[in-house]
Amino acid sequence: MKFFLDTANLEELRHGAEWGVVDGVTTNPTLIAKEGVPIEEQIRKICDIIDGDISAEVVATRSEDMIREGRKLAAIHKNVVVKVPLTRDGIKACSHLSKEGIRLNVTLCFSAGQALLAAKAGAYIVSPFVGRVDDIGWEGTQLIRDIVTVYKNYGYKTQVLAASLRTGLHVIECAKASADIGTMPFKAMDMLFNHPLTDKGLEQFLKDYHKVFQEQPVG
Ligand code: E4P
Repeated sequence: MKFFLDTANLEELRHGAEWGVVDGVTTNPTLIAKEGVPIEEQIRKICDIIDGDISAEVVATRSEDMIREGRKLAAIHKNVVVKVPLTRDGIKACSHLSKEGIRLNVTLCFSAGQALLAAKAGAYIVSPFVGRVDDIGWEGTQLIRDIVTVYKNYGYKTQVLAASLRTGLHVIECAKASADIGTMPFKAMDMLFNHPLTDKGLEQFLKDYHKVFQEQPVG
């Protein structure tokens, strides 16, 4: 499973990059606005930090405008994946831009039927939103299982990116469902490290060692 960070915050991205486990980044208009820097400038900075797929989302809503905006975003860096919403115009723009060789991430996907539309339009990635499905009282991870099954049935190459992940459990459940990618806020990735038995075990190992050997760690 590839791990993406769902943030446009450079400090979080630098921190994640140091761990060596971040394969890419997803952004959306909300996350870009939070940083207060124009999208082209911020995406360029992100590409300098993480060497992997970086999703940058269009804000246009008409297909012709999405196509124009998508081309501009794709020209920022070779790693940029253009994100379009799963609307009729978005799917039209996806069909068009994918034929030009631009890689598309179709976002705001909430059903397996929508995911089929994205795959048929040549999407490189589809983004089903797990957390937001949970928010309305349904089971977000079931959506991932359904999409993975239908894509497998027909051999679609579109990658399933489990988005809107908020907890470590979300990540584990989506990995069990064979999502290709999980994108998560920095906080959710950080939470994956935590286990009380790891802390307890390390404390005991060090205590036992230092009872016999007094020396301090090298460096
Ligand atoms: C990522 O591509 C999505 O925009 C993001 O995961 C949405 O997450 P949220 O539902 O927590 O806003």
